[in-house]
Amino acid sequence: MSPKLEKFVDYLPIMEAIRPSKTKDKRHYYEIKMEEFSQKMHRDLPPTRVWGYNRQVPGPTIEVNQGEPIEIKWDNQLPSRHILPVDRSIHDSDLPEVRTVTHLHGGETPWPSDGYPEAWFTKDYKEVGPFFQKEIYEYPNKQRATMLWYHDHAMGMTRLNNYAGLAGAYIIRDKHEKSLHLPSGSYEIPLIIQDRSFNEDGSLNYPTQPNDASEELPNPSIVPAFTGDTILVNGKVWPYVEVEPRKYRFRILNASNTRSYSLYLSSNQPIYQIGSDGGLLQKPVEMQVISMQPSERVDVIIDFERYKGQELILKNDLGENASPEDETDDVMQIKVSDSLSAPDKSIIPKRLSHIPSLKGNEIVAMRNLKLVGSSDKYGRPLLLLNNKRWHEAVTEKPKVGTTEIWSFINTTGFTHPMHIHLIQFQVLERQPFDLEKYNHDGSIIYTGPPQSPEPNERGWKDTIASPSGFITRVIGKYGPYSGNYVWHCHILEHEDYDMMRPLKVIDPE
Ligand code: C2O
Ligand code: CU
Ligand code: CU
Repeated sequence: MSPKLEKFVDYLPIMEAIRPSKTKDKRHYYEIKMEEFSQKMHRDLPPTRVWGYNRQVPGPTIEVNQGEPIEIKWDNQLPSRHILPVDRSIHDSDLPEVRTVTHLHGGETPWPSDGYPEAWFTKDYKEVGPFFQKEIYEYPNKQRATMLWYHDHAMGMTRLNNYAGLAGAYIIRDKHEKSLHLPSGSYEIPLIIQDRSFNEDGSLNYPTQPNDASEELPNPSIVPAFTGDTILVNGKVWPYVEVEPRKYRFRILNASNTRSYSLYLSSNQPIYQIGSDGGLLQKPVEMQVISMQPSERVDVIIDFERYKGQELILKNDLGENASPEDETDDVMQIKVSDSLSAPDKSIIPKRLSHIPSLKGNEIVAMRNLKLVGSSDKYGRPLLLLNNKRWHEAVTEKPKVGTTEIWSFINTTGFTHPMHIHLIQFQVLERQPFDLEKYNHDGSIIYTGPPQSPEPNERGWKDTIASPSGFITRVIGKYGPYSGNYVWHCHILEHEDYDMMRPLKVIDPE
């Protein structure tokens, strides 16, 4: 348990925007170092040993314009020991303890730069994984404006490397977005929300894990899920921010390992959602509560005009069964000042963008993908996709340019945020089935008609909540690149324990 920490004493940090190290042929080139260092996470907490990109947790914000490709060298300068307890019993037994590979989540990226889990590398590329391709990654940035994020994706280590601090925001801008007069400049604020637990000495607390695969392992001894007892925004525990009585645009990312959030404001005022994972929605959706699974992003506008001089709290609804000691119902404090420094000329446009439906496309494949509970050779619980471990042969092989419907059939007892690399997809529907019957004889009996996605899910998505006892159907067009990608649950403790499978996009030529 973390030491008792007073809320709302640290000001909300804003991640620094990174500058290119050089520009050749008009193409920006960046070098981003991964290092170990200490960072103050709360006024009353000793500095915390973390791993970060360019000595910041979260990492610097990368901001690019659509159509302007960039290159990044993700430079691993980490020590050879992890700062967190490493589990050597699953994939890790004979791999180097410290290995990294950076993935641009939500990015339409050629596969050699996508951050394939087995394309990991150690300090100065002394050792590299079997799928390692190259040192300098290329990002074409052809997709529409949105907030993506970059984070570590090393095989079997993603939960630990992210928890140590290897994550940051990546914002794509385009002309259309600029024409909309959304709140911008200091009135546009990225919020990266994460949960952490700390020890008294300020170090990160993460459960101890088995470190010898050869010894008889007690059951259960893996970490099947992790939620911290404090909430951080942009790297500070329960911070506060001062705002003017006007409209603000918040770019929110849930970068937590397992925890999902139900965000609302203590003033109970509406939150206007204008964008999802893959960019702007067609029109704003008025929300009271915004649920966010790990890795989901929401783009929202909040108007503080009527709250001059008030202190609001961005809250997290923990539901009725929450214990009174649980403090994670607070996220951040918002202090609204009395006056404006300039008139608010921003607007919440009635129409935001056009999203062509994929429904009319020819459907080349429909895949039934079961999310299932299983166990490993030690009898410890594991979550799998279609009952297959990561290393089994590739089964999902869509062709470039073709459209497929994927049905995530969740036979487990909880929600999984399912993520597909390379593409942004659309949500078709969710349909309930009888879980008890399934557990009895494996048959899928529908218990109701398909349900339309929520209004705020009717845009581009790359990660989708797939609730227990439902089939969640998504439609996606694969491409434009071919190669080795992955699809997985974005609860990082699940992903590392084999709730991840390869995705091979095939070039028909
Ligand atoms: Cu955000 Cu495969 O990940
Ligand atoms: Cu991804
Ligand atoms: Cu999961």
